[in-house]
Amino acid sequence: MSRIVPITPEMLDEAARLLRRGALVAFPTETVYGLGADATDDRAVARIFEAKDRPRFNPLIVHLTEAGAAKELARFDGRAAALAERFWPGPLTLVLRRSADCPLSPLVSAGLDTVALRVPAHDGARSLLRMAGVPVAAPSANRAGQLSPTRATHVQEALANRVALILDGGPCPVGVESTVVDLSSTRPTLLRPGGLPLEDIEAALDEPVALAGTTPDAPKSPGMVGSHYAPSIPLRMEAREARPGEALLGFGPDAAGATLNLSPSGDLVEAAANLFHHLHILDQGDYSGIAVMAIPERGLGRAINDRLRRAAAA
Ligand code: TXA
Ligand code: MG
Repeated sequence: MSRIVPITPEMLDEAARLLRRGALVAFPTETVYGLGADATDDRAVARIFEAKDRPRFNPLIVHLTEAGAAKELARFDGRAAALAERFWPGPLTLVLRRSADCPLSPLVSAGLDTVALRVPAHDGARSLLRMAGVPVAAPSANRAGQLSPTRATHVQEALANRVALILDGGPCPVGVESTVVDLSSTRPTLLRPGGLPLEDIEAALDEPVALAGTTPDAPKSPGMVGSHYAPSIPLRMEAREARPGEALLGFGPDAAGATLNLSPSGDLVEAAANLFHHLHILDQGDYSGIAVMAIPERGLGRAINDRLRRAAAA
């Protein structure tokens, strides 16, 4: 079983070191417990999806110590500044466009050009973020499809030995997830109701907030078609070789002639970590299409194939 430890300076130091080494650490926030990883480390982020058994790559929330850090990662406009000033630290997540030289793994954005940022209010979370010194990607620390955990024991029951350390901060005071507001397009849009009431957000913005999917220009929530990253050229799966003009995206040791290989050793965590990097590179190359070799339908392979299937159908 994973170790549950109290939040002491020694344990925070150990947790921060684990995060910097690419391990997963569960920690309390004011909303729910998060399953954290260094958001700049592709493999660490891939391990989050593996631990949660997520059948697909949903974009993750990146946790920061202060609003100043958000300005380097994303385009932080006047609306973002107004909401951050009023509600951070607190249970509000802002979806913003990634900055041009954003150092975050593309996997935290599931390949999209936006990123969800939040500054949590919990003292334990804030100390951990400060000591880790890196932005921390953290979905709720449950298995896919299960309830969000509000106590350290919930995390242990859900994730057993899939997390290096569980910091115990007692029950989460808010108990529901953060409110997610998308500011990446013309109209502010509510993607997920949560711990911060919509009315408070509208009052601070002094404009109405649209509900996801209800207006033509409102961004769709990530579960909906159209909001997934797909390359601009055709993609086909289960390829054995490239046809003329195509790039071949390989997997495993038997990939002679591959333009790029997601994992020469056949490691699915490595493949997930490379997926969006490689697709972006091939999409920008001079190819007529992308042929992807077969990826096994197990572990992270299911999420990789889900994303490839959507791209192939686009
Ligand atoms: O309270 C919370 O927000 C907790 C704690 C740990 O901070 N975290 C959490 O994360 O609930 P998660 O991964 O379970 O939920 C993230 C939500 C999802 O609904 C996801 O689709 C949305 O945020 N989201 C993340 N990045 C996004 C993006 N780039 N565009 C649109 N939606 C995004
Ligand atoms: Mg969740």
